[in-house]
Parts: sequence; structure tokens; C-alpha cells
Amino acid sequence: MLRSIIEAHHGRTGRAAAVPYPEPAMAILPIIITGNPVLHTPAKPVTVFDDELRTLVDDMYETMLAAPGVGLAGPQVGVPLRIFVYNYPDDEGNERRGVAINPELWISPSPVDEPDEDADSEGCLSVPGERFPLVRSQKALLRAVDLDQKPFEIEAEGWFARIFQHEFDHLNGVLYVDRLDLVYGRRAAKAVRRAGWGTPGNSWTPGIDDLEG
Ligand code: NI
Repeated sequence: MLRSIIEAHHGRTGRAAAVPYPEPAMAILPIIITGNPVLHTPAKPVTVFDDELRTLVDDMYETMLAAPGVGLAGPQVGVPLRIFVYNYPDDEGNERRGVAINPELWISPSPVDEPDEDADSEGCLSVPGERFPLVRSQKALLRAVDLDQKPFEIEAEGWFARIFQHEFDHLNGVLYVDRLDLVYGRRAAKAVRRAGWGTPGNSWTPGIDDLEG
């Protein structure tokens, strides 16, 4: 069922339909670019925890690492479900990756500072190759379940907290460019127009299209 959802969300440029069936153990999925309704619509809770969901998560990890990215949400691969993966090492360089299914997120009050072009510069695989600064909350508490429906929670700070806010937004149909202040929002809109995005049917595939370089 997921495979058909993925294919349904890829327009003429999508490559999902070209994946041979039965599919390989791990697959890099095409990443949907801004303009497709799947990215701008709230996603639905996961209710079926089966092998298909495991395969989706494997593929999402693979796709995120190949991009490369630090997070990837279901809607970005055309799956309108409340699920995201993340991969962000801690300060000591220890691997810190996981999947959050049906997450809830609590955040500390957002600072009222002006965004810093360096420290706050954020990007998104669905607006590939672009970065714009956005002030985010410093702390976040994530509560979710894993693939075995086991609840867990993670307290995050700094950039790790930013990743959770960014990915959680994706599940609510919000991109970081929707949150930019006026000046950067205009620049982002211009970049999207210039790239010919902002309408359905655009995607890119890590390893095939070089858009994040
Ligand atoms: Ni994103």
C-alpha cells in the first residue's frame, strides 16, 4: 500500500515507478520538492506497524544518509504519515539516530532574536540547495513510539532540538521556509520560483540528481 501511495505522489519526474518489483532490501527514495500537496498537508497517524513500515523506515534512513541530511519525514518521500527519521551525532561524535512515529513535541519559548545568518541557517531536502536563517526554540522534548510501538522520549537542545522542530513541522504540512521572516521569506519564494518549483511533480533522487551539493 505504501508503495502505491509513494507512486501516487510522484508526478512525471518521479522515479519511484521505475523501481523494479520486488524491490531491493534497501532503496533510495525520490525526495518530493516543495509544491506537492503532500508536503503542505498535515500527515495522518501511523496505525499499521508491519513489515512494510519497517521497509519504509529502512528506505528513509538510506535516503536521508545518501542525501545527505540530518532528518527526513514521511511526506518528503510521498508518504502522508506521522513518521520521521533523524541522524545527528552528539557532541562527542557518538551516533544518534532513530525513528519517531506519531510524535508529540514540546518546545521552550522561542527567542525573539533576529535570525543569525550563520548560526541559524537551516535547510530542507524538499527545498534542496537553499539555506535561510530561522530562529528556533533552544529546547525540545520529543515523545513518540518506535517500530515496536514502544514509547520513548528524548530531550534535545540546540541543533538537535532544531531538527526535531523541523521534522515535526513536516508532519503538520509546514516547511521551514513557511516560518521565515519577511526578508528571508521573500528570498526563499524567489529561489523557489527561479528553480521552477512550487508546483506538484518535482522530486530529486540522492545519488542521481546532485541538488544538495
Ligand atoms: Ni525538511
